[in-house]
Amino acid sequence: MKTENKNILIGITSSIASYKIYELIRLFKKNNLNVKIVTTQNALEFISPLVIETLSENKCFYNQFESRENVEHISLTNWADIFVIAPASANTISKCAQGLADNLLTSIFCAYLGSKKPILFAPAMNTGMWENPIIQENIKKLKLLNCDFIEPQNGFLACGTTGKGRLADIDLIYQQTLRNLFQNKNNNNKKLIVTLGGTKEQIDSVRYITNSSSGKMGTALADWAYYLGYNVTVISTIELKRNYKIINTNTALEMLEALEKKDYDYLIMSAAVGDFRAENISKTKISKENINSDFNLKLIKNPDVVATIAQNKKENQKIIGFCLTDKNLIECAKAKLENKKLDFIIANEVKTALNTNQNKVTIIEKSGKIIDIELDSKENIALKILEVVCD
Ligand SMILES: Cc1cc2nc3c(=O)[nH]c(=O)nc-3n(C[C@H](O)[C@H](O)[C@H](O)COP(=O)(O)O)c2cc1C
Repeated sequence: MKTENKNILIGITSSIASYKIYELIRLFKKNNLNVKIVTTQNALEFISPLVIETLSENKCFYNQFESRENVEHISLTNWADIFVIAPASANTISKCAQGLADNLLTSIFCAYLGSKKPILFAPAMNTGMWENPIIQENIKKLKLLNCDFIEPQNGFLACGTTGKGRLADIDLIYQQTLRNLFQNKNNNNKKLIVTLGGTKEQIDSVRYITNSSSGKMGTALADWAYYLGYNVTVISTIELKRNYKIINTNTALEMLEALEKKDYDYLIMSAAVGDFRAENISKTKISKENINSDFNLKLIKNPDVVATIAQNKKENQKIIGFCLTDKNLIECAKAKLENKKLDFIIANEVKTALNTNQNKVTIIEKSGKIIDIELDSKENIALKILEVVCD
């Protein structure tokens, strides 16, 4: 896994949101990242070193003058691949912006800024503090020094008011950390679209026809594309909370319409698009009370979304299709690749691909080259696919 051997140093400051970082530590550890924690002295009013040490399996650092063998702020700076300050208090943000180094966390920041390794701030504070022009000025200054920020959210705050200042969701902090760790900045201007999920074709006001696609493969592809630095847009039939752009659609026609409006460098068509839709959609719920015998539903063919988009493909654009069958997989995939004029096709079988956390795929290139990827997590498969299809 690409995340193995990566070292994350988390800086926890004194905020009512500090306890949320326990979950962030767990998430990093679950994904094989090494975690060390430095806290301010004030943060210890809100969190316990025992919990941190148990979750991170490392010492919790907060005393600058404790070690006689090690200069802690330098050794931690050297150890880390990224420094994530979460939650970042107004006080610590301001100290960092002014170059103050009056505790272990701010001393690390001072040393770390010169290292050119990524730094991510996740601020959390009361709305008044967030809107304070001095704080905003300090954030602007840190951004100019290449520090990344994940904006706090609007919502109900611990002080009893509603407004901007809540710590960003832990999942979003996790994702932005991975993007900072793995991105190639040359990818930032490359537009990559992923379609995902099973389409839902309405029958009446409450019923629809769909399929068993969970959207997990597509989500893994979009997530890794985001971590690698691509400008990602997802066209999805499932609800997702992510830092990249998400366009929600239901039907094949809506997906096609959304795609026709978008420019792209890479288009990965992992959505399971329904082949048929109801000819007539009832505006109200069809009631069995009004039907005495069988109910016949007439289905008509949907347009072939990937083939329609591929017709107008420009020279420099790449389209990656998916083929899912339970027999003659490679022949079907090759025929689809050729007939629909795709650049790559990812062949996968119903029994391994649908509604699972793992997958096993074969990538077929337009040139005829075939690459088999053995059974692995959908996240690892996604990364391997991107390494083959994106240049
Ligand atoms: C209950 C409570 C909650 C607080 N929450 C926040 C907060 O969310 N964000 C913030 O910037 N300061 C918050 N503060 C104020 C900080 O704790 C204070 O500015 C402290 O000096 C910051 O120390 P540090 O930056 O060294 O961790 C809070 C204070 C209290 C008493």
